[in-house]
Amino acid sequence: MKRISFAETAHSIILEYLRKGDVAVDATVGNGHDTVFLAECVGRAGQVFGFDVQTQALRITRQRMRQQDLSAQTILFHASHADMAKRIPQEFHGSVKAIMFNLGYLPGTDKSVITKTQTTLQAIDAGCRLLAEQGVITVMAYPGHAGGDEETSRLTHWLQQLDSASYIVQTVYSQHHQAHAPRLFVIKKMN
Ligand SMILES: C[S@@+](CC[C@H](N)C(=O)[O-])C[C@H]1O[C@@H](n2cnc3c(N)ncnc32)[C@H](O)[C@@H]1O
Repeated sequence: MKRISFAETAHSIILEYLRKGDVAVDATVGNGHDTVFLAECVGRAGQVFGFDVQTQALRITRQRMRQQDLSAQTILFHASHADMAKRIPQEFHGSVKAIMFNLGYLPGTDKSVITKTQTTLQAIDAGCRLLAEQGVITVMAYPGHAGGDEETSRLTHWLQQLDSASYIVQTVYSQHHQAHAPRLFVIKKMN
């Protein structure tokens, strides 16, 4: 039996929402796998904004985008995702169709650079405001590492207070779910 990863699940959800010409955000660029995916989805007529606090991640991703001829529709910011509302031009506010978060640390690099509860919540709050009606946010969360437990728990509570008339929140667990197993949050904006 083929196992479906959370990354594949997140991509298949995003695919239902994104069309050529749309605007999307990769809130945690890392090695750029999700940035490439989003840039391919929106095409040259679209726009992807990416955020990361690590120069190394942005360097790798810029090179990846160039190699795959996806630079034209991609703008990468060396900035915290908590600042996305300030960095993304006003004209796009309210028209972003999809935002991806992949929390935690970048595998194979400095594990001390991790997403932090406070800035993660600020960024998801900003993302909800930037999102278009019928847009979607996916958040991969990893409670199994130092700091990830608190981040996932606070995020779970924060999502519960979102206005249920405007947002539908779903949590995707692995088949053999355990307390510290990764999970995917899906936030759909209705209006
Ligand atoms: C799990 S990795 C992302 C993996 C990425 N999606 C990929 O395809 O390779 C998490 C990334 O979040 C970044 N990060 C940590 N805090 C951040 C913040 N406040 N704003 C933006 N990115 C942040 C880290 O530098 C790291 O590259």
